[in-house]
Amino acid sequence: MNPATYNSDHECYPHKMGIPPEYQHCRFDNFRSEGIKARINSIIQAAESRSWIVMLGKTTGNGKTHNAVAAMIRSWAVNTYMPEYSSVRRHRPEDWYKYYNARKLGVELENAGIKFSSKVDEIVDHTCILLDEFGRAMSDKARDRLEILIDECHSNRVQLIITAGMTPAEFNNSLDGSILRRIKDHAVMVHFDWKRQG
Ligand SMILES: Nc1ncnc2c1ncn2[C@@H]1O[C@H](COP(=O)(O)OP(=O)(O)O)[C@@H](O)[C@H]1O
Ligand SMILES: [Mg+2]
Repeated sequence: MNPATYNSDHECYPHKMGIPPEYQHCRFDNFRSEGIKARINSIIQAAESRSWIVMLGKTTGNGKTHNAVAAMIRSWAVNTYMPEYSSVRRHRPEDWYKYYNARKLGVELENAGIKFSSKVDEIVDHTCILLDEFGRAMSDKARDRLEILIDECHSNRVQLIITAGMTPAEFNNSLDGSILRRIKDHAVMVHFDWKRQG
């Protein structure tokens, strides 16, 4: 992070990123990280450098979505600052960043018919997308279509943040080999194997 270009992630309007109300408060500074600081720092660093991030773990409620949202907002705060226009607007619009529930998006893509490719084009027009709860109760077709989307994120240099309620082994087995390779080449992967803090 270059501190000269860093603006607070609290200046963000998370609803413009499609973040559901229950996650709009999520930031790194309100996440208790005693004992897991190194792993949270690796997420922060990945967010700021526009790297892909995958957060895995079967325990629910221990902060995968919290960190995914915090990462997307931090990426926005750090990477969209436009000092040359600071008197007008300091950041690019929040709606270049977008939260999706992966299951809902999978169903939408599955039923998109001939609009599938234009829908994918519309999604990869974002700077960064978050796919929350990937792989849960998903049909094979929905998963195939999300894999195409992931591939397009790579081609279009879209930052991708994924959460999945799976172990690393389950995640590996759930994806096509070439997509998994792509994810492993580009993503910082963090296993949320701790109990909820605080
Ligand atoms: N270490 C923590 N510090 C602060 N809040 C936390 C922490 N872990 C979880 N939470 C809060 O608990 C709730 C559930 O966490 P969430 O990110 O939805 O878990 P997951 O996506 O892993 O199921 C959220 O409101 C989140 O902000
Ligand atoms: Mg979650």
